[in-house]
Order: sequence, then structure tokens, then C-alpha cells
Amino acid sequence: MTTSRDRQASGAALAEASVIDAIAAEAGTPAYVYNAGVLRSAYRRLDAAFGAVPHAIHYAMKANSALAIVRLVRSLGSGADANSMGEVDVALRCGLHPDEIVFTGVGKRGDELERAVALGLLAINVESPGELDRLARIAADRGTVARVALRVNPDIDAQSHPHISTGLKSNKFGVPIDAAPALFREIAARPSLRAVGIHVHIGSQITSLDPLQRAAEAVVALARDLRGDGLAIEHLDFGGGVGIAYDGGTGPDAAEYVRRIVEAAGHCGLKLVIEPGRVLVGPAGVLLTRVVDVKHLPSAKRFVVLDAGMTELMRPALYGAFHRIEPVHERAGAPLACDVVGPICESTDTFARDRVLPPLEVGDLVVIRDCGAYSAVMGSNYLRRPLPPEVLMDGSEWRVIRRRQTLDDMLALESD
Ligand SMILES: Cc1ncc(COP(=O)(O)O)c(C=O)c1O
Repeated sequence: MTTSRDRQASGAALAEASVIDAIAAEAGTPAYVYNAGVLRSAYRRLDAAFGAVPHAIHYAMKANSALAIVRLVRSLGSGADANSMGEVDVALRCGLHPDEIVFTGVGKRGDELERAVALGLLAINVESPGELDRLARIAADRGTVARVALRVNPDIDAQSHPHISTGLKSNKFGVPIDAAPALFREIAARPSLRAVGIHVHIGSQITSLDPLQRAAEAVVALARDLRGDGLAIEHLDFGGGVGIAYDGGTGPDAAEYVRRIVEAAGHCGLKLVIEPGRVLVGPAGVLLTRVVDVKHLPSAKRFVVLDAGMTELMRPALYGAFHRIEPVHERAGAPLACDVVGPICESTDTFARDRVLPPLEVGDLVVIRDCGAYSAVMGSNYLRRPLPPEVLMDGSEWRVIRRRQTLDDMLALESD
């Protein structure tokens, strides 16, 4: 029985519980629910922190590349950081111009480089001397000039999960920062290349601003050296990485992050670029799911089984990530420790172990918080599970921005 304590569950901080009920009834569960207002405020806060300093925000599409989300971010004035040609194409479909898109990726194929050059993207963030050479040849063959930012690896520990740390020299990303001056000289010597920037990205879900600041300082020092060598560039791209408080505590302050970057840059005269993903969209979304079973035998743990699993939210299985889990309508009764799991035949399909939650019963709606980033984009069809719908709320209105996938959608690519 649902009690009268239908207080707005904080998981539904994105919406009144009654709106969440309506979404569950009409769109079904599991479903991702995003709140446009939360995203807008996060963007504006970050943008405003730059003050009058020339800057650009390039939304990292890898966090959430739903058309409606990219269009929304674009309407706020954002450019895009694309990590694949698929993301470049989505950005273009959302009305972004090639000169508002930077293209990053540790293994860009020849055809992707060809397309990036043909489009005239704002910057191709180059990851290796080999890639630089391939790019120079492609641009020369086309009789054009490719705009290059060199991704440097500053060998700085982001103090994040090792699977999402990218700034150590043991990581596959970028070129060692001490190799950068020679590569910039090479770029200057090749008529088909134009150096436009320095790029760094040391990882994601970074909760201390210190490593981000040190990376920024390293990039600024490199820019000064380049200037001393008479090598001109246009921008410094500090990547993304600012973390969020998945536990509901106090996370890093995104505005303070910007202030530190601005301070590190001094009056370098270059445009400052950032590529935030998680900090913009993460807190703006929840995964709405329903309890399908509660299993409690005297000799075993209590398991709460949801209709969402690692196919809809892979982060706990992939990184042991923590997400708050909350009933939409809280029942009366003593909280109980339970494992909250998905329905998939893998033991790693577990969202929380020994989590103390209000009592839950079959049919109850539950939200998993902070699923606006790296959730829907990492979804899969494992077990032939259809991709869930995505819903975008804006004020009192909401709409389905991606319908639920059908079996026919899934099989459309196959022949038997
Ligand atoms: C190159 C690049 N830029 C930006 C981002 C966005 O990072 P975050 O979502 O942590 O802000 C990523 C993600 O790891 C990335 O690989």
C-alpha cells in the first residue's frame, strides 16, 4: 500500500512525484527522465563564471547525445566536443556548425580524418605523431589546411577511478607534454596543417580541483613556451572532468573550477575552452524503474529486483559507481538493508549492496539519481532488451524525446 506520505521523493527532485507517476504510466519503465531546467542552470552557472574572459563551452556529447539534449545545450550557446564521427553527425543535425565542433578520439580512422578535414571542424584534437602525419597527408591531398589542436598528456593523476583517468603517461591518451614543442614545430613546418590549440583532458568524475588546476597550469606554461618560439595558437582546451556528488554531498564547485582555470591562464590572450559533460547533464536526469521482485529468504540477503539493469545503467557494473536510489513514494516502516539488483543474468548487475532503504514492495516506483550522463549513451541490447524511452521535462511539461525501442527496431538490421 502506498502511504499518504507521498512527499516528493528527493529522487524526484527533478519533478513532483505525481509527474513521475504520470511519466511511468504513459512512457512505462524503465525510462530516463531529464529536467531541462536543471541542465540550463548548470550551463549558465559555468558560463557566467568566465565573466568577460573570451571562452567557449564545448559540451562533451559522450555524456548524453540525445538529439533533444544536444539541441537544448546548443540553444544555450554551447559548441560540441565529439568523440566519434557519429557524434559529429548528431551535432550537425542539431544545427551546430563545423566551426563549433572539436573532434577528439584516441583512434580516429582514415575515413574519419578525411571527413573531419572536409567538414573544416574547429579543431581536430590530435593524439599522436602518427595521426598528425596521416592528417597532414589527407589535408595536403585535398589541397586544404586542417585545424589541429594537440592533445597533451601532462602525467597528472586525476585521483579519479583508474578506468576514467586519462592524464597519466601510462594512459593511452595524448602525447607527453614535453614532446609537444617539437610537434608544434612540425605542424608549423607542414603547409597542410595549422596549429590552433592545445588540448588536455585528464579524466572524468574528478572531485578535487587541484589536478585540474595543475593540468591547466601545465598547458598555459606550454602555450607561453610556444609563444616564445614564435608559434601562434588560438585556444587552450582544458577538456572536461569536473565531478558531481553522486552521494548527495558537496561536490566540486563548477564555478570555482572555472575561476581556477581563468587564474591559471592569466592574461594569455587565448580563448579558453572547456568540454564539460557530466557536470552539466548528470544531475539533470534519473533512471525511473519499478520493483519487479523482493526476494528475502531467512538464510539469505534481501534482494530488491528492478526492471532496469546494467543494460540501462552500466556505471555500477563498470566502475563500482555509487548512485542514490530512492522510492518515488516512501512507505512507512523501518528502513531495511538490501541489495538492489537488475534482472540480468550477471552478478555484476547490481546497483547497490547492503543499502539501507525505506521498505519497498513489488510494483513500487524507484528512481536512480544522477543518470543524466553516461547512462542512456552506454545502454545495450544485451538479452534483447529494448533501449528505454528518454523523457525531457521542461517546467510543468514533459515529452518523450526517444521512444522505447521495439523488437522490430532491433531486428531491422538482421537477416535470417
Ligand atoms: C576528451 C573528453 N572531453 C570531455 C569529456 C567529458 O568529461 P566529463 O563528462 O567528465 O566532463 C570526456 C570524457 O571523459 C573526454 O574524453
